[in-house]
Amino acid sequence: MLRDQALKDQVIVITGGGTGLGRSMARSCAELGARVCITSRKLEVLERTATELEQETGGVVMPWACDVRKYAEVERMAQAVRERFGRVDGLINNAAGNFISPTERLSSKAFEVIIDIVLMGAVNCTLAFGKEWIAHGERDRAILNIVTTYAWTGSGWVVPSACAKAGVLALTRSLAVEWARHGIRSNAIAPGPFPTKGAWSRLLPGELMERFDMAKRVPLGRMGDHQELADLATYLLSSFSGFINGEVVTIDGGEWLKGAGQFNALDALEPGMWDAVEAMVRNVKGS
Ligand code: HXC
Ligand code: NAP
Repeated sequence: MLRDQALKDQVIVITGGGTGLGRSMARSCAELGARVCITSRKLEVLERTATELEQETGGVVMPWACDVRKYAEVERMAQAVRERFGRVDGLINNAAGNFISPTERLSSKAFEVIIDIVLMGAVNCTLAFGKEWIAHGERDRAILNIVTTYAWTGSGWVVPSACAKAGVLALTRSLAVEWARHGIRSNAIAPGPFPTKGAWSRLLPGELMERFDMAKRVPLGRMGDHQELADLATYLLSSFSGFINGEVVTIDGGEWLKGAGQFNALDALEPGMWDAVEAMVRNVKGS
């Protein structure tokens, strides 16, 4: 969508960049000339993705293992990117954890783990990079947070995720005002359904995929294409969107307007099925 080399010389950090939508956004950033750091917990996955993306795009992709829940690891990651590339221009807070469950089945720890990854992960990365940008007087920086449409509507059966994403949305809008004076823009994308292994295996395991067909919820009658989301992300990171600040752009084919709360339909699931569903979700390895 953007012209060739639109992100030339920029350095972009993408959390959860080894898989799914993070990988697709990393690919587009690299294609447009940015140097990219992809970071998540699994170094092996990141290294494989980095090699593939470098081959596919001819760009530079740095893999770095970091658990966004741990501030010391986030600070080390931020330092490593700066040492390698000398600067950081954009941060995409994309890492997430999620699974479906009736809320009354959740332990406090299960709730906490999602809040920690999604909300505290975004907070930790925002703080680590934001503090550096402000301390060095580095301007024209962009933060892009990946939320969901249920960040503002809520949704049953994914309540920890809904609470965490609502927090990330508040972070986005609050810092859009507070940090604008430092030349830091803060925006978000709210994707509708985009097929990824990480999301689908935990949110619609087994037969639920057919029974709760996400495409049928979308007025446009289909799911999103990764390139559509990557194009939006690169635009929001680039200087072409320089006057967009504090916005959350929905990219869902009209889904939430037709019926808010993507997982509310799970009230149709027979209560006796939840043991089997939980066993399938707990069995998922990786993204
Ligand atoms: C109930 C569960 C559970 C489940 C884990 N727990 N899975 N409880 N049902 N299915 C509980 C555990 O028993 C434990 O609580 C606590 O949660 C922490 O579990 P761990 O396995 O120790 O956590 P961890 O190894 O850190 O793994 C985190 C994870 C995992 C979130 C559970 O799924 C993961 O790594 N996910 C990363 C990728 C991901 O989720 N991608 C999807 C993003 S999709 P106790 O009390 O027993 O100690 C997305 C899409 C949004 O966000 C919108 C789509 C349309
Ligand atoms: P995904 O492939 O599972 O992506 C999640 C990523 O987060 C993984 O790469 C995972 O890597 C990383 N991650 C998890 N815990 C982490 C931690 N503690 N520290 C660092 N990284 C961690 O799923 P996806 O569908 O692409 O989701 C990407 C983003 O889009 C998420 O924010 C999600 O909420 C949002 N979203 C997706 C959809 C959709 O339809 N797919 C819809 C709305 C919103 P590791 O396991 O290696 O850590």
